[in-house]
Amino acid sequence: MLLGAATSAHQIEGGTYNDWSLWEEEGKAPPVGEACNSWERMEEDIALLRRIGANAYRFSLEWSRIEVEEGLFNLKNLFRYRRFVRALLDAGITPIITLHHFTNPVWFYRSGGWLRPDAPDIFARYADLVSKYLPEVKLWITINEPNVYAYRGFVAGDWPPGERSLWKALKVLRHMMRAHSAAYEAIKGNVRGAAVGMAHHLRVFTPVGLLGRIPAALREYMFNFVPVFSEVSGEIPPPVAMMERIRAGGDFIGINYYTRDRVKFSLRQPFGVDVAPEGVWRNSLGWEVYPEGLYTLLKRYSYERPVIITENGMATERHDERVRFVLEHMRQLKRAREEGIDVRGYLYWSLMDNYEWLEGYSAKFGIFTRDRRPKGEFHLPDMWDRA
Ligand code: FCB
Repeated sequence: MLLGAATSAHQIEGGTYNDWSLWEEEGKAPPVGEACNSWERMEEDIALLRRIGANAYRFSLEWSRIEVEEGLFNLKNLFRYRRFVRALLDAGITPIITLHHFTNPVWFYRSGGWLRPDAPDIFARYADLVSKYLPEVKLWITINEPNVYAYRGFVAGDWPPGERSLWKALKVLRHMMRAHSAAYEAIKGNVRGAAVGMAHHLRVFTPVGLLGRIPAALREYMFNFVPVFSEVSGEIPPPVAMMERIRAGGDFIGINYYTRDRVKFSLRQPFGVDVAPEGVWRNSLGWEVYPEGLYTLLKRYSYERPVIITENGMATERHDERVRFVLEHMRQLKRAREEGIDVRGYLYWSLMDNYEWLEGYSAKFGIFTRDRRPKGEFHLPDMWDRA
């Protein structure tokens, strides 16, 4: 079992400059500053991983550091990641690399980004180059949460590029699925024994009232089902595409799980509205904590494949609450495993408090604090034994 933690480049490295940086400059997101300064101190992060007894670490490569202009690659930066990968392996920690965790190079963004018809080829070229130089990495995640990316950037519009068009969101999702497929081929061709997947953000949608079943089912289909099904079956279903064939991938299913939505019918909103009842367990951002949802989603979306919980975590100031969060989710994970779901890993989000996209540093998801002082004893393997 892989046990460890997850992070992403822009959220921890410091010194990144990408489309999210533009968003920060426009005042639409808090400034990232130097984040956890991991670009300089990555090797120190390994000490943190060792302290929690982790045997796996999921982190992302910052595309904009590697492909500095279209088709122009900075190998020095890629080799910096390679040194880190080797240090992880020396420490007995399995690296799990994410190639795209929300942020894009500015040149890509300015030229149309994920709406570009050739976006899948561009992404695959990057995946191809990176995987050629990192053959010792056996676990790859092409794209993190395509559903969240498409929704926030192209429907809600509170993430770059700030569009509000369902049509564009569907196009972006289609391009991301094609990009996954092309990157899958590239990585498999370069790395012997590689397992390649995506990290899917899955949520539980609980209907409120009888009519609530309609928007809940719509959300379930669009948000959860479409991306996972496309990956596993190699066919992109409507309305994203008309069962367009892509390379079936999904050597493992990556699941990021945080919360559930309670969904009520609304005449104005086809996807319904969220209801927030009093007295339920929530994280400091107001997201409902619902451990049983992990079991539900594992049963529903594992498609008889190996599953890795690629993210699961809680924003809280209280360390005892975080421990309880992990224990309760572990219990649900164990329950799914006992019923035959092949769960191979659990990665807590996040190793340390870091930059949260719109909340900045107010959201404390970390096992450790930003200045690297441990918050207290936190030992995942022990907890796993107890769960
Ligand atoms: C996930 C993102 C991750 C982090 C957590 C809290 O959806 O993948 O970057 O922001 O939420």
